[in-house]
Amino acid sequence: PLVTLRDLLHDAVQRDYTAVQFNADCLEVAQAVFRTAEEERAPVILGVGQGAARDGKIEALAAVVRDYAFRSKLPIVLHLDHSEEPRQIVQAVRAGFSSVMVDGSALPLADNIALTRQAIALCAPVGISVEAELGRIAGMEDDVTVAEDQANKVDVRTVEEFIAGIEVDALAVAIGSAHGVYKAEPKLDFDLLAELTKITSTPLVLHGGSGIPEASLRRSFALGMKKLNVGTEIRLGFMAGVTEGIAGGESIFSAFDRGRAEVAKFVRQKLAVSASAGKA
Ligand code: G3H
Ligand code: ZN
Repeated sequence: PLVTLRDLLHDAVQRDYTAVQFNADCLEVAQAVFRTAEEERAPVILGVGQGAARDGKIEALAAVVRDYAFRSKLPIVLHLDHSEEPRQIVQAVRAGFSSVMVDGSALPLADNIALTRQAIALCAPVGISVEAELGRIAGMEDDVTVAEDQANKVDVRTVEEFIAGIEVDALAVAIGSAHGVYKAEPKLDFDLLAELTKITSTPLVLHGGSGIPEASLRRSFALGMKKLNVGTEIRLGFMAGVTEGIAGGESIFSAFDRGRAEVAKFVRQKLAVSASAGKA
């Protein structure tokens, strides 16, 4: 069934796992995510990112994911990723998303709070979950680039101030991960994470999941990260598989199979390390 992020994260807290969001740019990637989740008996969050949104896919992916979710026994969240626009959030609400992320992290704190409040006003009355972001996550996601010198880790007082005035279902916190392919091994600030989980019971989200070594993922999960976002690995995997098939003169369907098989590898690995596998 289709579930909200709030309900899924509640379950993740109760049963000690981390929920994983996989961003799908197209039907084929979504198929690979669902088929693997089905094999692994894992709840999943299907993310629609800003690239797919700009590609005009909000309604189309929503239709596909909702249809799949209603026929499946797995708990599935349909989540809009990194939205900076109330208009787009309304579009997602109308398309039947069960969760949205409002990203006001580029704004001064007061404006981030105001934008997040606006998102909550649009979503909460119709039971849709809201994730917000504090601190800027470095790197490139779709075509939004945050230079490393603009990226900053969140500080504890900002989080305190934010959660004092607002209630969100999940909070993305910048602790040193980056979007996209890592140039160097990401150094996550585990001390900061430990402090954050001390001051809030709001489920925290680790963005930029691609390329983080498994040991760092495990440690961040043990310290209380309850949601992990993965995009680049499965996007590049899909492209590599399809490219290989096409270059070998295969049919488009056999090339899709290769693409989906590459996506499945990453999905399986993340579902295992997060302990999502076996939870559905
Ligand atoms: O919101 C999406 C994630 O943060 C994706 O990050 O592309 O580095 O895996 P990634
Ligand atoms: Zn992200």
